[in-house]
Amino acid sequence: MASFTPEELALAQPEPEATAKVQAWYMDDSTEDQRLEHRLDPNEPCTLAKLREMGVTYWSLDADNWETDPKLAAIRKVHGMSYIEVLTISKDTLPDYENKLKAFYQEHIHSDDEIRYFLDGSGYFDIRSLDDRWVRICVNKGDLIIVPEGIYHRFTLDTKNYAKAMRLFVGEPVWTPFNRPQEEHPSRAKYMAKYGPGANAVPVSA
Ligand SMILES: [Fe+2]
Repeated sequence: MASFTPEELALAQPEPEATAKVQAWYMDDSTEDQRLEHRLDPNEPCTLAKLREMGVTYWSLDADNWETDPKLAAIRKVHGMSYIEVLTISKDTLPDYENKLKAFYQEHIHSDDEIRYFLDGSGYFDIRSLDDRWVRICVNKGDLIIVPEGIYHRFTLDTKNYAKAMRLFVGEPVWTPFNRPQEEHPSRAKYMAKYGPGANAVPVSA
């Protein structure tokens, strides 16, 4: 069994709500360009505490120095994120760009956590709240986010059309999306048991 130093465990703690810069809001249902903000009017923010109740974990890191960042190293070690690769999502760098973007924006789940660290650029992770509303999480340079196994979600770039993201994985990577509906999928059942109505929801990384 892996063991960690107190320093590593302290460094790997998710962002406290008081200092977290993450911005999230409930979405409107307009069918306009997916890259727009799609806020309600008036805006209805979603707090980090609420995101945690849905199983989302968030850190704010120093993206300029990720290769030598002890905080990233500690998070990777504590969570067993052995695999990393860096992907630049833009028209010029991502093969099959248009189709990939369409696939990213199709509502789906995975049978593992989706872990992304934004080294540059920005985008939106949309996740389904427990009452099945869309919550849009704005991800920017320095944001490391875990979108938990079994949660319905999708991703889009914003109007800047550019993100450079590290994909992290616990073990050998599997990126397979399972498009909604997936109510019978074991990962969906696991998610609902852990975070759904009646579950005693606790943050994944607390
Ligand atoms: Fe995904």
